[in-house]
Amino acid sequence: MGKDVIVACDFSSKQAVMDFLDKFEGTGKKPFVKIGMELYYAEGPAIVREIKARGHKIFLDLKLHDIPNTVMKAMSVLSRLDVDMCNLHAAGTSAMMEAAIKGLTREDGTRPILIAVTQLTSTSQEAMTNELLIERPIDEVVLSYARNAKRSGLDGVVCSPLEAGKVHEACGAEFVTVTPGVRFAEGDRGDQVRVTTPARAKELGSDYIVVGRPITAAADPVAAYERCISEFIG
Ligand code: C5P
Repeated sequence: MGKDVIVACDFSSKQAVMDFLDKFEGTGKKPFVKIGMELYYAEGPAIVREIKARGHKIFLDLKLHDIPNTVMKAMSVLSRLDVDMCNLHAAGTSAMMEAAIKGLTREDGTRPILIAVTQLTSTSQEAMTNELLIERPIDEVVLSYARNAKRSGLDGVVCSPLEAGKVHEACGAEFVTVTPGVRFAEGDRGDQVRVTTPARAKELGSDYIVVGRPITAAADPVAAYERCISEFIG
């Protein structure tokens, strides 16, 4: 799997995302774009087709979680949308993850990269224990979900760069780690708590870094993107 920087395009309208992507026109750069729930629910599948038609790779971050048959059918639709990467919740169980792979796989045998969300980083140990009644330590739960994802045939997980090493140890070097929570050394953390720089994420073994506001809110987004690429890929 190639290393890359994925730009989280957390915008609420087509106008806003296109204004942002226009800044890259004529630069020869075509960032790998993450489309999340906000933009997808605002603009629907057309926004995926339009960004794809401009030549960008797309990570569609919709975090599916439902009964296996429903996820299989939904994944089949996403696969026809020609996204490059999509995801689901590992908590949906191996049966759901296996069904997802089946739905995603096209007639010619190809499919988008499929990664799993383990425990959301917004879930505390306390909430996990007291509300979800999962008593094991959160790190153990995350690695167990990662192993389930691997056994189910998925390609990787979303995790913190700080967890990338442990995930690779448990699931192998080829198992992809897609890591948000990235900030420049002198940058504003925003609401992210545990952050790492692109250079540090590289050292820790991340395969893809997901970077939003440090690029989208920068005075010069193209320069910020290029800086991420040079720090992370070299
Ligand atoms: O703007 P920022 O760089 O914080 O954006 C990070 C992106 O990664 C956002 O789209 C956010 O939803 C996503 N994400 C995250 N932490 C997770 C999972 C996803 O920040 N644990």
